[in-house]
This record gives sequence, structure tokens and C-alpha cells, in this order.
Amino acid sequence: MDTRIEGILRYHERTKHHQTRYAPGPAGLDWPNQPDPFRVYEGAPRHEWRLGAGALGTAYADLKRPGSVPPRPLTGDNLGILFEMSLGLSAWKSVGAVSWALRCNPSSGNLHPTEGYLVCPSVPGLDRGVYHYLPREHAIERRAQPGERWDEAFSPGGVIVGLSSIPWREAWKYGERAYRYCQHDAGHALASLRYAAAALGWEASLLEAWADADVASLLGLDQDGPAAEEREVPELLIRVGPEPGSPEPARLLEALRDTPWAGRSNRLSARPVHWLAIDEAERAIRKPRTRLRPEDPIPPLPPLVGPVPGPLAADLFRERRSAVAYDGTTAMPAAAFFSILDALLPRPRVPPFDALPWPPRLHVLAFVHRVEGLAAGLYLLARTAEGEDVLREAVGPGWEWASLPGCPSHLRIWRLLAEDVTRVARLISCHQDIAADSCFSLAMLAEFEAAFVEGPWAYRTLFWEAGAMGQSLYLEAEAWGFRGTGIGCYFDEEVHRLLGLRGDVLQDLYHFTVGGPLEDDRLTTLPPYGHLQR
Ligand SMILES: Cc1cc2nc3c(=O)[nH]c(=O)nc-3n(C[C@H](O)[C@H](O)[C@H](O)COP(=O)(O)O)c2cc1C
Repeated sequence: MDTRIEGILRYHERTKHHQTRYAPGPAGLDWPNQPDPFRVYEGAPRHEWRLGAGALGTAYADLKRPGSVPPRPLTGDNLGILFEMSLGLSAWKSVGAVSWALRCNPSSGNLHPTEGYLVCPSVPGLDRGVYHYLPREHAIERRAQPGERWDEAFSPGGVIVGLSSIPWREAWKYGERAYRYCQHDAGHALASLRYAAAALGWEASLLEAWADADVASLLGLDQDGPAAEEREVPELLIRVGPEPGSPEPARLLEALRDTPWAGRSNRLSARPVHWLAIDEAERAIRKPRTRLRPEDPIPPLPPLVGPVPGPLAADLFRERRSAVAYDGTTAMPAAAFFSILDALLPRPRVPPFDALPWPPRLHVLAFVHRVEGLAAGLYLLARTAEGEDVLREAVGPGWEWASLPGCPSHLRIWRLLAEDVTRVARLISCHQDIAADSCFSLAMLAEFEAAFVEGPWAYRTLFWEAGAMGQSLYLEAEAWGFRGTGIGCYFDEEVHRLLGLRGDVLQDLYHFTVGGPLEDDRLTTLPPYGHLQR
């Protein structure tokens, strides 16, 4: 086996939480040393964006009807709305003298390792350049301004949005497992961008062929930057705009050559800690340039039905929150349950899964607690026909495989077991009540071993897909009047044992829970940009 694949499999194994032993992490939280969640390039010229999402009239339901949102022109102001609805702040929370910002994109522990970049040609209202996004200020800082040849290297009608991670921000709290959470968060951010683009009537797709080194060069991450412990590593690029397109890495990088870089990155902590297992994982899965995958058209499905009339997209994006507790009584109509799961299937030109260039590789094991008309129990959803074969082969014998009355015929979902599963759901999600007091919780099972045929970097893409599924679940739950929470803390092997899974054919990569939330009255909520005097 490729030694780099062995390296990443070692990382995966050693970062599993077990009932008897959590993955290696810090002994306690070093509060004075908590990394700053806001990176700034001091000295780089800034462009302040207007706040415009509140005036966007797109209905969330229209995102599921391709062609129903007229594309907005590619302008600086509309790019500002794209970032405001995806990576911008959504609120401030405070208790006593302490306050913290929430963002449209969720993040494990609200630590936000993901940084956003805009790479664009000249568009009305904005000069060409490579810009770093400042969510607190809703502004961008220009790190590089290449010459005119740069504009020709873009395919018309689109820009590039880049994402990177600062693993130290997550490792400060979560230690070695943090690198997984960085990947989940990148997947959430990717999906947030795809949803926001759709609300502007724009296309968005992952630029999968780029090498990590090229992404780092394009975003300026390989310039003199932060100390090694606080370094920012390249994650992904997304092409976004009113027209589809795929810019050539070589032409863009050539046009960027010899351009000076502005700004010095701020220090995030006084004493950053080096987590060697994360360095090794990150080294093992660096991606070279790869060929474009042959087009694999998404099979058509019946249109998605959602709640009517439903919210405005921009409101939903900014009002999305994680539940910190559930009431343990709210029941969900079966129609909502089926629709929330249905939204996890890719559909042509429907966000967020049309942005991912590979067919679904993650499936769902649901722990149903309170869904009207469905017995409490264990359920399995295959997101593809091929996935159904993998699941049937991998899951141990003795399960019911019962089909469900009232379930849309294209949804491959079965009941494996009818029984109260609240205790097991709580236990496998690190004893967290949120997995048991909700309407349902779930585990995402990845076709793990098979994905590595592409290369070790497939590890990251599996987590991105999990994060995109999480973002879909968050928004769908909210649209139906419920609330979701991503769950990164779970006992990997307990889930595998429960189903009788052997080896690495399937691995559990993320949990999620949806139900009727309990609010925490001790917290005050403030608007996202009340602190800006614009
Ligand atoms: C990858 C990921 C893992 C998470 N894991 C947990 C978890 O195990 N338990 C929990 O209560 N919340 C978990 N959360 C929820 C975060 O704490 C929450 O997203 C963050 O505090 C920001 O709040 P917001 O989602 O309301 O913006 C997770 C979120 C993400 C994205």
C-alpha cells in the first residue's frame, strides 16, 4: 500500500474516540492562549463591503427549483452579499462581560479554522486581485494585485473563492482529532458558499484538479507568513459566478508571478502548540494536480418539496444556529423527516451537492426517536444504488430491512430495528444528550476504503462531503421549524460494532441531530454587524 495512504489511515485510527480512551488532546483548556478567531493581514489595503443580504428577496424554496432565481450581475457588491451570506457573521452572543461572534458557516466548538479568500478579475465596483475576507469587518484586504494579463486568465462570468485552514485554532481545544474537524468545517463552508451563490442565481463548483501547492501559491499562503505552529494550509477552490467555467491553474499562476504580496499576518496566540500527528496527516494527504474527472451526470429525481411558503434564503442562512439542548418531547411529521433526508440526495443544479464533482460516498444510519408515524428505531439511508449494495454487503446479518409506508419511492431507506434507541444514540455520541432528546440523530457512513483509489487526499474530500451534508441538514431542519447540531464527538468503533461492520469498507465520519430546541435564556443575542458604524 502507498505509504502516504498508510500514514493517513494511521492518523484516522489514532484519532478515534473510544469509550475507554479519547483521542490524544490537551490536558485542559489554556484560555489565555486561545487562538484569535480572526486573522488579519496588517498593512494590506482594505475594501469595505456594504451589507446587502437583508435586501435579497430570494426564497429558500427557489434554490431547489433550478432556473427560478434570475442571475445577479457579477459585481463587487454582489460578491459582498455572497460572502455575507456564507462566511459572514450571523450574530453576537454574550453572557456577562463575555461576548463571541457566530457565523453563517458553523464550526466545531465555534473555533473557526476556515479562512476565506476572493480571487477575482476586475469587475464593476472591485479591482482585480487576491483578497482575504475579514468576517468581523465584512471587508476584504487586498494581498496581491497582478497586472492586466490576470483578467484574461479567468473564464468569463466567474471568480474563484479559496478556503484554507488554520489547524492550530481547532487543535488548541481538540488536539489530534482537530484535523478532522478542520475538514468538516471546510465542507460546511463549501456548502455555505454554494447555497449563497444559488441565492444570487449563480453557479458554483469545486475546482478539483488543482494541486494543494498551486492553491497555496494562488492564495499567497506560501509567502512569508505566520509561525509554523500557526500556519494556514490550503484546502479548496470553488469557481463561483453567473456562468459556469473552469480557469486554468497554470495561466493564473503565471499571471500572478512576481506580484508583490501586501500585509503581515497577525499572531493568533502567545504560545501556539505543535501537534505532530496533524503535521503528519497534512503532509500525507497533500494533493498533486489531477486530471478533470469525466462528467458523471447526476441522475434526475422528483423535485424536492419543502415547507410552504418557507423563509427567505438570506434570513435562513443568518438565522441558522446549533441547538445546545433539545426538549425531548417535540415530534416531527414523517413528511418533514423524509424531506430532510431527500435533500441529502444530489440533484442537477440544486445546492449544495451539485458543487461536488463525485457521486455520493456517504450514507446515513439514523436513530429515530420522535417521528410521527414511524416506529422508534434504527434506519439506514443509501444515497446511491451502488451504496445500497455496499451497505447490504457490509452490515451484519439479522436486521429487518423493512420498507417504510409513505416514503417517497426514490428514497432508499429501510428500518433495521424497531426499538427505543435513545440510550445507544446518547452513548455513541460521547454521552451527549443532544443525540437522544432530539427527533432523530444520525451517523454518516463513508465508503472509506474504496475512496483511496483516487489517492490519500480522498480522506479530506470524504469529510468535505460530510460537512456539506451537515450544512444541508442544518438548513433543512431550520426551514421545517426544527434545529440541528453537528456532532464531531462520537465513539467511532461503537457505531461500527453496532452494525457489525468489519475492516475499513465503511467508516463513521460525522454525526448530526435534529429536533425541537431548548433556548438558553442566560445568553443575549446581538445583531451581526451592530458594531460597524457604516
Ligand atoms: C464539525 C462540527 C462538530 C460539532 N460537534 C459538536 C458536538 O460534538 N457537540 C455539540 O454540542 N456541538 C457540536 N457542534 C456545534 C458547534 O459547537 C457550533 O456549530 C458552534 O458552536 C457554532 O454555533 P452555531 O452553529 O450556532 O453557529 C459541532 C459543529 C461542527 C460544525
